[in-house]
Amino acid sequence: MAMARGGGNLEPAATKPIIRVEGLRKQYGKTLALAGVSFSVLPGETFGLLGPNGAGKTTTLKILCGLVRPDGGDVTVDGLSVTRNTQAVQRLLGVVPQGLALYEDFTARQNLVFFAKLRGIPRSERAKQVDDILRLIGLEEDANRRVKGFSGGMKRRLNIGIGLLGNPKVLLLDEPTVGIDPQSRRYILDSVRRLADQGVTIIYTSHYMEEVEYLCERVAIIDHGRVIAQGPIDEVRALAGDSVVLRVPVANGDVVDLDSLRSSISVPIEARTGELRFVLPEGSAQVPTVLNALVAVGLPLDGMRVESPNLETVFLALTGKALRDHGANGGAS
Ligand SMILES: Nc1ncnc2c1ncn2[C@@H]1O[C@H](COP(=O)(O)OP(=O)(O)OP(=O)(O)O)[C@@H](O)[C@H]1O
Ligand SMILES: [Mg+2]
Repeated sequence: MAMARGGGNLEPAATKPIIRVEGLRKQYGKTLALAGVSFSVLPGETFGLLGPNGAGKTTTLKILCGLVRPDGGDVTVDGLSVTRNTQAVQRLLGVVPQGLALYEDFTARQNLVFFAKLRGIPRSERAKQVDDILRLIGLEEDANRRVKGFSGGMKRRLNIGIGLLGNPKVLLLDEPTVGIDPQSRRYILDSVRRLADQGVTIIYTSHYMEEVEYLCERVAIIDHGRVIAQGPIDEVRALAGDSVVLRVPVANGDVVDLDSLRSSISVPIEARTGELRFVLPEGSAQVPTVLNALVAVGLPLDGMRVESPNLETVFLALTGKALRDHGANGGAS
């Protein structure tokens, strides 16, 4: 298990964490969802929780907000234990679940008002909060339209808006950009940044490393219920060396037998639009193996370059798997 710890940077070390996640364990039947997850989040920071499907991200967040009881370990928020002071902790939190929790027959505004009442937001504050949130999530113009007719991105934005009711000090976001168009994604990322600028402490869960690299100062990478690396992003990045990337262009309509390629080389293959990428540690003896395999199946090589480490290559270096190999996420929770 590799760990990058927050040494070197005096400021975080001097600040007391607002969230402490300590030794969380959770078993679902035969599945060990969490095998001892620990990390801490500093006040006002955007903390990234990065991991592939089934890593344990949602389980961690559900325990954090008191929806699920851990079998072991605990979480404290502002010094309050979530297992002992569940309601007090919940009052500090805004939660944006991975699955959409919206009433399709209501308008955007009606959804916000309904959830504001549920949260016990006094009538005198409700209208202003709802208006502020509609502006932040860019749904002012569509406030009086029924959610039924919204695009996936608009629904995601409203889902986030509901999590913002009550001006939470801490916001938990569970994969808020899954399955949406690039424009909505950009909008969501910018809204999250604005919230961070206002001083909200955020845990941002994702398996898109670009998002975490864009938003977060510190990150924990989680795989199979274990934290495999955590710390400031630069330190975590440094856990992997440079990598060699081989690019194979794939035209629309090309049929590539990825399974047989995978069986002839033990190198993760990233399938992106228009290309396949093979990422290997620099100096890897497997570079010629991959080249030979490509020639054998008649795939042309388009380019080869050395890339400095990013969170994805860290994940690869630590687990031997590519984060993107796990595919798009559809799972509701
Ligand atoms: N209610 C449940 N009952 C049984 N198994 C569960 C339940 N919730 C989660 N699991 C299992 O626990 C493990 C962790 O799941 P979790 O939802 O926390 O992962 P995740 O990192 O959020 O994944 P994803 O990226 O797909 O959302 C998985 O193996 C999952 O199948
Ligand atoms: Mg999840």
